[in-house]
Order: sequence, then C-alpha cells, then structure tokens
Amino acid sequence: MVPFTKWTSPYITGLFTFSILFIFMFFQNAVIYTFLETSVDSTKGGLCACDKCVTDLNDDDWFFLRFNPTVAPLLNRRNSVLQTDVYRWWKGLQSDSSKTNYTEVVDTLFSLFPDEDHYSDAGPDRCRTCAVVGNSGNLLRSHYGQLIDSHDFVIRINKGPTKGFEKDVGSKTTHRILYPESAVDVDNSTHLVLLPFKIEDMRWLISVFTTRHITSTYIRVRPTVNADRDKVMIIHPAFIKYVYESWLQKHGKYPSTGFITLILALHICDEVNVFGFGAKSDGHWHHYFDGILTHFSRGSHGGDFENKTINELLLIGKIYMHKGWLL
Ligand code: C5P
Repeated sequence: MVPFTKWTSPYITGLFTFSILFIFMFFQNAVIYTFLETSVDSTKGGLCACDKCVTDLNDDDWFFLRFNPTVAPLLNRRNSVLQTDVYRWWKGLQSDSSKTNYTEVVDTLFSLFPDEDHYSDAGPDRCRTCAVVGNSGNLLRSHYGQLIDSHDFVIRINKGPTKGFEKDVGSKTTHRILYPESAVDVDNSTHLVLLPFKIEDMRWLISVFTTRHITSTYIRVRPTVNADRDKVMIIHPAFIKYVYESWLQKHGKYPSTGFITLILALHICDEVNVFGFGAKSDGHWHHYFDGILTHFSRGSHGGDFENKTINELLLIGKIYMHKGWLL
C-alpha cells in the first residue's frame, strides 16, 4: 500500500486547488450570464439591436471568463469608494509622492464635472456602433475617414489629430481618452475622458478647470486644455485594474491606453470597430502624425500579450479590425 507521504500530498493539494478554481470560474460565469440575461427583455429578441452584439451569449467561454459587465468603467460619486487592494495597486502604478486625499479629490471632481451613471442604457433597442481609433501609421493612405465618421461613437486616443488627416482618420471625435502627459484641446462636441494612472492626474484635471497651477507631473504638462466641462468623464481606477488582471492576466506593468480604450468600448458599445492599431512589421510602434518610433514590446505594457488578446477578440468576432496599409 502506498502510504500518504510527502509524495502524494502535493498531488492532492494540486487537485484541491484546481477544483476550487474550477468552481470559482463556473460561478463567476453563471453570475455574468444571469446579469446579462436579466438585464434584457427576452421577448424583444437579442441583447442589442445590432446584427451581432458584443454581449451575445452562448458563444464563447474565453470571452465570458474575462468580460465582467458589473465592473463600472466610469467613475461617479456613488461608485467611487476603492477597495483596499484596488487602491494599493493603483497607488503603486506610477510614483505619486503627493499626500493627496482620494476622497477629497473625488468630492471636488464631482462638484465640477457630471456625476452620472454613464452608459447604463444597454438593451434590446440599442445598437451603438463605435470606432476605436488608435494612432498607428497604418492609417496613412487608408481612406478610412468616412467609414470612421459613420459610427455613433468615435473614440480617439491621446494626441491623435484629425486636422490634415481627415481622409484617412475622419473628422468626428465623440470621446478622447487622455492623461495629463498626452493632453490636447478637444472641441465642444467631444467628451474629454481622463485615464487616471495616479491621483495627481485627477488633481491635474481639477487644476485645468480651476486654478491652472499644475504645470508638471513627471514631465511638463499643459496647465490648460480647451474642453466642455459638462462633457468630462473619468475612467474608474478599478476598471484599469480589472483590464490588467482579467484581460492581461497581469502581463506587463499596466495596460496601454489603447488596450484600456478597446476594453472600455466593449463595455459601452454594442459593435466595436478598431482602426489604427498595429506596429510596423519590424515591431516599431509608429504614429500616423509624427516620426516618433518606439518598440511595442518594450516599456511598461505587455505588448505581445495585448496583441494576442486583441487577436483572440478578433477571431471570436467580438471586434472588427481595419488593418489599413501593411507597413
Ligand atoms: O502612441 P499612443 O499611445 O498615443 O497610441 C495610442 C494607442 O494606439 C496605443 O496605445 C496603441 O493601442 C495604438 N497604437 C498601435 N500601433 C501603433 C501606434 C499606436 O496599436 N503603431
């Protein structure tokens, strides 16, 4: 008889851990399916009014193990309390020596900007099409301008300009995702969406619309930005952690702006078309508007893993990718 020794116990521990994980994943899936099913009126048909909806059920376990519709993408007063693990992770993202009190900052934010439950209007009557426009040089000579502008939401990222590039990138911008170091002016039809990598970024946003005294973070930043205060939105710090853990399985230090924007689109849109994503064949990450070249797999983001995840989303039909010109 084989005795219960130090040789057999690791297998039993392994089996036990695996069973617990399996049960956890099963229940998480069940909760998500129930949430989605109860949030629509089944007599009216699908989960949205498009031909194919991001949240279509019964099609992919890989997707529903990652996609969690209960995580709020955008901050408001009511959902602003951060769990200790979220707060600790977020504080550790970028060195932030300021002694700023998060609760006070949130109070000031929502005395200045709309305190709303944004985009909780998903349902069988909605077909919201979104174009997520990255800054890749593959947009040049693409002639995607009209196609991009035909979407309900056109979400642009960081500095990506439209002026002078309309034929290839379009001219409409409903949302621009930015942080202090990548800020540009936006017009009155655009939502400025702050992606806060640190509390200092929230303080910067407050300063931009009030005292204009913050002129640097770890580099010089713009003390002023033209934007409609009533259209300002702020991405939830817990959403950034969710993207990192659920979607990137902790690859890299934190997700890139483009990747966070893409997952944001999965949460607020019914159909997601992606433009301007993709490095050159030599791995260089180039822009359509300037000559700056960086390497996508270096730096703080898990570039390779982000690409693999985007490819999987493409394969299972959750996003459509417009690749532009191969370079
Ligand atoms: O360079 P920047 O961070 O402003 O670009 C915004 C986003 O566009 C990136 O986070 C990335 O997702 C996407 N991008 C890309 N390929 C490039 C340049 C940008 O996929 N060559």
